[in-house]
Amino acid sequence: MWLVVVSVTLLPAVTMVSSRYRVKVAVLCHRVLSWALRLVRGGVCVRDTHAFVFSNCTHGKADSVLETFDLYAETHQCLCIGPQTGEALDKVVKRVRPLRALELGTHCGYSSVRLLRLLPPGGRLITVELDPVTADLGEEIILVSGFKHSQFQVLTSSSAEAIPTVRSFLEPSQGNDGGVSLVLMDHDSQQYLPDLLALEREELLCPSGCSIVLIRRNRSADDLRGILDHVGARADCYCIKTELQCLVEIFYQKGSARAEGDGGNT
Ligand SMILES: C[S@@+](CC[C@H](N)C(=O)[O-])C[C@H]1O[C@@H](n2cnc3c(N)ncnc32)[C@H](O)[C@@H]1O
Ligand SMILES: *[C@@H]1O[C@H](CO)[C@@H](O)[C@H](O)[C@H]1NC(C)=O
Repeated sequence: MWLVVVSVTLLPAVTMVSSRYRVKVAVLCHRVLSWALRLVRGGVCVRDTHAFVFSNCTHGKADSVLETFDLYAETHQCLCIGPQTGEALDKVVKRVRPLRALELGTHCGYSSVRLLRLLPPGGRLITVELDPVTADLGEEIILVSGFKHSQFQVLTSSSAEAIPTVRSFLEPSQGNDGGVSLVLMDHDSQQYLPDLLALEREELLCPSGCSIVLIRRNRSADDLRGILDHVGARADCYCIKTELQCLVEIFYQKGSARAEGDGGNT
């Protein structure tokens, strides 16, 4: 009898708690669902880019891959740097002719392919991508362009985690006096300065000269202020070599950047 009494008195409380709980579960489900949707939608862009390029380019031809990317970007939103910034980047790469290059932010492989096609014989690219799905798709596009694993390496992690491991992926070679002679940053402008500091700490910037290309996505006046302040304060080893709307090239040289880097804008 007492059990029935207890049950009946508890019933409203139980009902209330469970209905409240149901509301909370519903809210939670809604949040998880919209988060998952956003995640999937975010991934759709790179998957669509990949599918379009993969099925419409001539396999084995880097120039065809780049043209197909450009065609896609004419009608779709795409995170690739595109032909205009691409040509500005090409100019730097042709001048530097880096034997070892590092890219932060692989995305679908567009800028990786642009870099790889201009490296001198024996040249090697290490490219870093945070998102594992994107890294796989980017790697496939680089392979489709005709490049071999002996020429490039995709590292799937954050730039901060990757930088301390980069040295182990640089094979010693003639003319490689340690480190990389070109760095392309197009991952996250908030990371540009911390990653440059990490590259200095790990002694990954080739002491005889390294160009660091910063892609400008956000055209606001102080998007690159942190890193440019740092460079300005270290005139003994840094100078700004190229300054365009779409990119900035910083030149690093241990000791005497001034002598090499006074060329001004190119
Ligand atoms: C603007 S896209 C790069 C586009 C590429 N440069 C191109 O032209 O094809 C930026 C990429 O950097 C990746 N990313 C963002 N933050 C990162 C980080 N901290 N470390 C490594 N990759 C990052 C993103 O997942 C994205 O794929
Ligand atoms: C290949 O290109 C055609 C024509 O531009 C386009 O309609 C098609 O969707 C592309 N293929 C893929 C898989 O995106």
